[in-house]
Amino acid sequence: MNAEIKDKAKRPARIRADSIKAFRCQNLIAVLEDPSNIKNIGTVIRNVNALGVEKVYIVDPHRALSDDWQELREQKTLSKTSVSAVKWTFVKRFDSTADCFDHLEKMGFTSLVTSPHVKGKTSIFLDEGDYTIYPKLAVWFGNETRGISDLAVARSEMCVSIPMFGMIESLNLGTSSGIMLYEVTKQRRSYQSEYKWRNKRGTREEPLPTVITPDHVAP
Ligand SMILES: C[S@@+](CC[C@H](N)C(=O)[O-])C[C@H]1O[C@@H](n2cnc3c(N)ncnc32)[C@H](O)[C@@H]1O
Repeated sequence: MNAEIKDKAKRPARIRADSIKAFRCQNLIAVLEDPSNIKNIGTVIRNVNALGVEKVYIVDPHRALSDDWQELREQKTLSKTSVSAVKWTFVKRFDSTADCFDHLEKMGFTSLVTSPHVKGKTSIFLDEGDYTIYPKLAVWFGNETRGISDLAVARSEMCVSIPMFGMIESLNLGTSSGIMLYEVTKQRRSYQSEYKWRNKRGTREEPLPTVITPDHVAP
């Protein structure tokens, strides 16, 4: 394929990428703490991309992932399980939970942990939370077996649970990220559509759209 044909073939994806920028939630990061299953990582990246979360951070103490973003996005299993969402998603890895918190706190982020259990000083159900009050927010998800660590709980503002009504102890990591991030992105997209700055200041004359219509993706 010559360069010009290749460029034309790429264009629909580029047009789509440009048109969805306005819908992405600013300053919202999903953090995976020591995930053990690459398929779950792929599913979370897919959810993050589909729901318009800005970035994914992965605490990866066993060095299963590459530090290099280019290498990461070309990693076959990750690309396959995320249905290529990894190519369009910012992913950064950290060696430890402490390193990730140090980085987030330096950048002014508030953290929330998620768990099926009551943890820490403040524990709420998903629908009780206002996720727009934190200008910069990181939402943490725990390991598939051990759940979220005590350190992550201690350095977070609160713990959020998705109510469960069955016999099992928890939801799958990928599933819970989808449910949790749907609610958080819905609230934050609606907020950023109305206000330019924090504390409900700077009302927009023209609210930003919160729903993608065919007009937004037309070339
Ligand atoms: C398979 S669960 C871990 C189960 C583990 N035994 C525990 O004690 O948390 C993996 C992750 O998914 C998220 N998760 C699963 N079910 C959840 C729920 N009902 N509410 C909130 N988060 C949940 C949490 O981040 C959890 O750490």
